[in-house]
Amino acid sequence: MTTPVKHWQAVALSRNIDRKPLRILFQDQPVVLFRSENGISALADRCPHRLAELSKGKIINGEIECPYHGWRFDGAGSCTAIPGLLDKVPNYHIPSYQTCEKEGVLFISRHKTETTPYLHCMEGKPVLMRLAQSRTRSDLLDTAENILDATHTHFVHKGLLRGLSDDKQKIQVDITGGDGWVEACYTGEEQQQGLVSKLLEGERTKTIGRFLYPGIAELEYWGPEGLVLATTFHLRQADEAHVEGVGCLIGPRNGALDYLKSLAFIPMFKIALQQDRRILGSASRNKQFFPDMDPLVGPLDILRKDMERILEGHLPEAANTPRTLFMEL
Ligand code: FES
Ligand SMILES: [Fe+2]
Repeated sequence: MTTPVKHWQAVALSRNIDRKPLRILFQDQPVVLFRSENGISALADRCPHRLAELSKGKIINGEIECPYHGWRFDGAGSCTAIPGLLDKVPNYHIPSYQTCEKEGVLFISRHKTETTPYLHCMEGKPVLMRLAQSRTRSDLLDTAENILDATHTHFVHKGLLRGLSDDKQKIQVDITGGDGWVEACYTGEEQQQGLVSKLLEGERTKTIGRFLYPGIAELEYWGPEGLVLATTFHLRQADEAHVEGVGCLIGPRNGALDYLKSLAFIPMFKIALQQDRRILGSASRNKQFFPDMDPLVGPLDILRKDMERILEGHLPEAANTPRTLFMEL
C-alpha cells in the first residue's frame, strides 16, 4: 500500500457542475465551482469587493459575475470587468484552487501539484465503475468508521449485507498501517449470507477495510481469483454537522459487477447507504444533548484510534506495531 497523494480532495461529480455555479465548503472555506473555458474552475467564494458570494452570481462566457456590482472574474480568478469603469480594470485577483477531473470525479487542491489524484483501489485495471454521491449528518471520523466497521452490519444491514441467522464465524483480523493509512484484513470468513453477497460473490478469501488521509474509506472483497468488488468513498466534512461523500463502486469487467449485476447492485447499495445515514444522523442529533461526552472506543473498534491519528497528521500506531486479533462476525 502506498500513501495516496495528500493534497487532493474529491469534492463533487463533474456531471453536477454545469451552467450554474456550485458553492462547497473545503477545509472550512467556501469555494465556488463553475465551468469556464478551461474546464472546471474553483475559486474562493468571495468577491474581493464587498465579499459577496460569487456562487450566487451568473456564469457569462465562462466567467463568473458577482451578483452585487457585476464585477467579473475568469477561471483563474483574475478580475476582467468592472461595470461602469472607463479605465483599465485594476489587477484584482481571487485565490484559485487547482482542479482535476478523473473519470467523472472532480478533485481540488489548495496547492499546485503535478501529481494526479487517487481515485480508487483498482485504478489502471479493466473495471466497471459506478459513482454515487451522499450527504450524511455526522462527522468525518464517525462516517469513515461506519463504512469500515464490520460489527454494525449485523444490526443496521441485517438481511442485506448480513444473513438473517445469528450464526457467527471466528475471524482473524490483521491490522497494518503506514504514513497516512491504516487497514484491517479479515480472513476466515466464508461467504457472507446477506442478499448482496449472494448476488455478487462466490467464495470469499479476505476482506480489507482501509482508511487513507484525508478522508478515504475503502472496502475490498477478495475471492480466490483476486479482487471481486470494492468500494472507495471520498469523504469531506462539508459543514459542522454534515459529511459529503463521493463513492466509487468498482468491480473487474466481466466480474462480479458486470452490467446486469450492477443494475441490481446499485439499488441495494443505496439502501445500505440509507440505512447508514439514518443511524449516523440519529446518533449525531442525539450527541447534541451530551456535548461533553466523548464516544467510548470499545475493544472491537479496531481502527478508530489509528484513523484519529491519521486525521491529526500523525503516524498511526499500526505503522510501528502491526497487530492481530480475533473476533466473531
Ligand atoms: S461585491 Fe462583488 S462586485 Fe461588489
Ligand atoms: Fe453500514
